[in-house]
Amino acid sequence: MQIVACYSNKGGVGKTATTVNLAYAFAASGRNTLLCDLDPQGASGFYFRIKPSQKLTEARFFEDAERFVKSIRGSDYDNLDILPANMNFRDFDIFLSHMKDTRSRLKKALKAVKNDYDVVLLDCPPNISILSENVFRAADAIVIPVIPTTLSQRTFEQLLEFFQQHDLSTKRIHAFFSMVQGAKTLHGEMIVELTRNYPKQIMAAKIPFASEIERMGITRAPVLATTPNSPAGKAYQALFDELIERI
Ligand SMILES: Nc1ncnc2c1ncn2[C@@H]1O[C@H](COP(=O)(O)OP(=O)(O)O)[C@@H](O)[C@H]1O
Ligand SMILES: [Mg+2]
Repeated sequence: MQIVACYSNKGGVGKTATTVNLAYAFAASGRNTLLCDLDPQGASGFYFRIKPSQKLTEARFFEDAERFVKSIRGSDYDNLDILPANMNFRDFDIFLSHMKDTRSRLKKALKAVKNDYDVVLLDCPPNISILSENVFRAADAIVIPVIPTTLSQRTFEQLLEFFQQHDLSTKRIHAFFSMVQGAKTLHGEMIVELTRNYPKQIMAAKIPFASEIERMGITRAPVLATTPNSPAGKAYQALFDELIERI
């Protein structure tokens, strides 16, 4: 079982949109896929029309394998299941801080499903917390959307520094440019500069700023399911294909 996290310490960069489309692509490729929504806002569950699971408290998430598995829901798509988030997930950090092996609890919790899925995608909340450290230690690949702006570059560099300071391998980082607006000179310049500075971490696939992606809130389905031949659909497919090659 491979664990792929979609993570950024910044909000609103396209993590959830990416997780939802990658999860769909993994499932469509015939892999048994679980999308695990770790963000208390529950947006990826919403996109798949799945209600929050009120019964899954943070304690049960980390300590009760049976309850964890029982909270998994099927989706409208073959090979794709969802573990929806709920507001209790706000307290992950407080809970984790009182646990032994506080940084490897997520890896342990996910062992409950290791025989059931080929891949688990994690949709992460935007912060560097104990939960994110759990994500960094559990994930085989950490996919990071970077909007080509100065602030996003800073956040990305802070994350690389964090990895170096905490002895985490940056080989597992797979970043890509998100919400790219071709007409913006700054976007073009940032893409060139960042790709030059971090050739190993930055992928070639780019996700454009696209109305189809914004419309996922209305269609409540991945772009890859509704408009696979749109520029956004093709871009997500290219991101998936490149990621598969790398991991
Ligand atoms: N490539 C894109 N083009 C246009 N809108 C996007 C794109 N990616 C995400 N969005 C929109 O931006 C908002 C934030 O995206 P989301 O995926 O929820 O980010 P995050 O999970 O990082 O907070 C959402 O309303 C989403 O529909
Ligand atoms: Mg999100």
